[in-house]
Amino acid sequence: MTTDAAGPSAADFPGSFRWGVATSAYQIEGAAAQHGRTPSIWDTFCRVPGAVAGGDTGDVACDHYHRMPEDVALIAGLGVDTYRFSVSWPRVQPHGRGPANERGLDFYDRLVDALLSAGVDPWVTLYHWDLPQALEDAGGWPERDTAHRFADYAMLVFDRLHDRVTSWTTLNEPWCVANYGYADGVHAPGRRNREAAMHAVHHLLLAHGEAVTRMRAARADRAYGITLNLTPAVPRTPADREAARRADGFGIRMYLDPLLLGRYPEDVRADLEREGIEPPVRADDPEVIAAPLDVLGVNYYFTETVRSGAAPVREGATTALGWPITPAGLTDLLVRLHHDYPPVPIVITENGGAFAPGQDDHDRIGFLREHIRAVAAARARGVDVRGYFVWTLLDNFEWAHGYAPAFGLVSVDRATLRRTPKRSALWYRDFLKG
Ligand code: NOJ
Repeated sequence: MTTDAAGPSAADFPGSFRWGVATSAYQIEGAAAQHGRTPSIWDTFCRVPGAVAGGDTGDVACDHYHRMPEDVALIAGLGVDTYRFSVSWPRVQPHGRGPANERGLDFYDRLVDALLSAGVDPWVTLYHWDLPQALEDAGGWPERDTAHRFADYAMLVFDRLHDRVTSWTTLNEPWCVANYGYADGVHAPGRRNREAAMHAVHHLLLAHGEAVTRMRAARADRAYGITLNLTPAVPRTPADREAARRADGFGIRMYLDPLLLGRYPEDVRADLEREGIEPPVRADDPEVIAAPLDVLGVNYYFTETVRSGAAPVREGATTALGWPITPAGLTDLLVRLHHDYPPVPIVITENGGAFAPGQDDHDRIGFLREHIRAVAAARARGVDVRGYFVWTLLDNFEWAHGYAPAFGLVSVDRATLRRTPKRSALWYRDFLKG
């Protein structure tokens, strides 16, 4: 691995290593009421006064739905080989059940063709947080039926795209879906009920397992995975170890253990029991959830220093959202996954930061460079990491924060929607050429 200030270089990675850029449907598409799309929980949540900063909504977002060819050209211009995007469930299957909305599927069909013509491999995520509102009205993720609904929806998308799409991710960040959406209420649907959130975790995992099982039964020669947000928790002092164990249990092991080991962690079960919460696990569920995986998607943003009975410590360098900048934590996390779990190829499906414009985008470039270096370091220690995708292509709708945080390699003028590549886009392009 190159260790000079200018490094690492793409040449430190094998030719088969995937380099990409990632987005999600609600954050960029807009066209919220077009061609048969029905509201998702985010369309509803954005209309709750005070829920989203500035009253922002995804109604227009980056208007990617109408500017897709231009955006594919931007993606191709970066020189990446992979583009990770998500499919909007309410666009493809309005109301969350019943037949496909062909016009909705047509959009993804055209996107996939445009990517392939540009030499970019499409990497599909089936669920990036935009549950059809009708399914939330029927109980949402805390209800078991939502898992079955998801598997049906997955097959509608799969049937249309499996001939050209080889990489399939079921869910993006189930931790956020369950905890932000159903316990903290800071994301859609804005509920605050911890028991409901813990039930949501189980049904999300079940949804993943059912969908993977059905897609694999239809086609064994495709790669199936899930993307988790893994935020390692380091205790600030020995007295904070219990807080770190708990954060690790509910943030990391509660997902990885059932997916890769076939059971929930004992300590998490005991914690839940103390809270009087019984996970709604039926006899066959563990096996369904542990359906074999071809790839584990890891979204890494930072490692947190935790204290017992207090908010996590936020000191040292941070991004514009106040998130710590901790690249070494990525190497540690990857090495840990390698040691603690059965072998599974890993792809970093998101990594990036919100940085204010200015200084020639120097901070974002440094952030990306150091995290890529951290991936190279993990690979040098034997971890099977096979790809790295930058979050994100365009400055976009950053959920409850609205449009202010700028995670993009490309800026988007909110008035004209004009795209302008930042210095980091040129840096990434040159890095990949290098
Ligand atoms: C993870 C989420 O998948 C994505 O939607 C979000 O924009 C980024 N993190 C940044 O917060």
